[in-house]
Amino acid sequence: MSNSFEDALKSVRKSAQSELAQANTEAEVSQLTTDYLGRKGKLTSLLRDLRELPPEERPRAGEQANALKAELEGKIDNLRAHLREEAKQRTLSRERIDVTLPGTLLQQGRLHPITQVMAQMVDIFIRMGFQVAEGPQVELDYYNFEALNMPSDHPARDMHDTFYFSEEILLRTHTSPVQIRVMESQHPPIQIIAPGVVYRRDSDISHTPMFHQVEGLMVDEGISFAHLKGVLTFFVQEMFGKGTPLRFRPSFFPFTEPSAEVDIGCVICQGKGCRVCGGTGWLEILGAGMVDPDVFRIVGYDPEEVTGFAFGLGIERIAMLKFGINDIRLFFTNDLRFLRQF
Ligand code: DAH
Repeated sequence: MSNSFEDALKSVRKSAQSELAQANTEAEVSQLTTDYLGRKGKLTSLLRDLRELPPEERPRAGEQANALKAELEGKIDNLRAHLREEAKQRTLSRERIDVTLPGTLLQQGRLHPITQVMAQMVDIFIRMGFQVAEGPQVELDYYNFEALNMPSDHPARDMHDTFYFSEEILLRTHTSPVQIRVMESQHPPIQIIAPGVVYRRDSDISHTPMFHQVEGLMVDEGISFAHLKGVLTFFVQEMFGKGTPLRFRPSFFPFTEPSAEVDIGCVICQGKGCRVCGGTGWLEILGAGMVDPDVFRIVGYDPEEVTGFAFGLGIERIAMLKFGINDIRLFFTNDLRFLRQF
């Protein structure tokens, strides 16, 4: 066999081996593959040169050239697999997660104190058979005042510090309009509470322009002041504790007759007299009364047939007494140090 062909094979083998030993990346391996085994590769051209050899030398030379080709292919495949595996191991160790590291603490939210107290109040009344009713916050003058026996020249409107959109449209100043809406759309017996947001133009240590009330209304044949007293007594005892005393003081609301304001024994001093109760030992918590016959007539009920009681109370006030909070504005300034206490 021609020595020159054999030498050429040897030299290709040698240089291929040294390049293989130096290849560190897949790109280098690909380049090397092209350089030796590609269409114009060094080994490929040698294989092409075979046909120039004398016929008797070709079989042996062909055998050797093909052996070298197989050898290179095998080595390239191995090297490729090896580099891939190395890259994979590098990625794995770079992306390793240390499960023993301390985690990031998730801040858990909680219900706003007003929401908590409202939910508790609603629950107490639901246990007495009341159903929850709702009405719009943007209300008509008719429902907020007129139908509640407060015509446009009525002095009681003064106390309500109303936000008006127009002569007819306003932000409701209390939840009492829900009474009218419920009576307009249902027949007695009625036993509802209406919790919700109300608005008044007023802002100081005990007033915010937006606050919450719960309205109550019960109408049927034979409902008396005794029922009102029973319902409110149960509510107060559940809300402030079994021994909490309450008293009814005569008062006036245009939509109830007779009307009363309800006080509870001061929860701060237990009735001894302190700054919070102004030394009286009592705290006013709500307004109430028997539904005025005029209101019944306005919604088309016959006051000779049915009677009813109503009451309304401020949720912020109840929450302040329950938690010992002295400034109503704290509820709405969104200071987390305050809110996290509940
Ligand atoms: N709506 C009254 C207010 O906001 C509170 C009130 C008093 C509601 C007497 C009533 C009631 O239902 O009977 O000042």
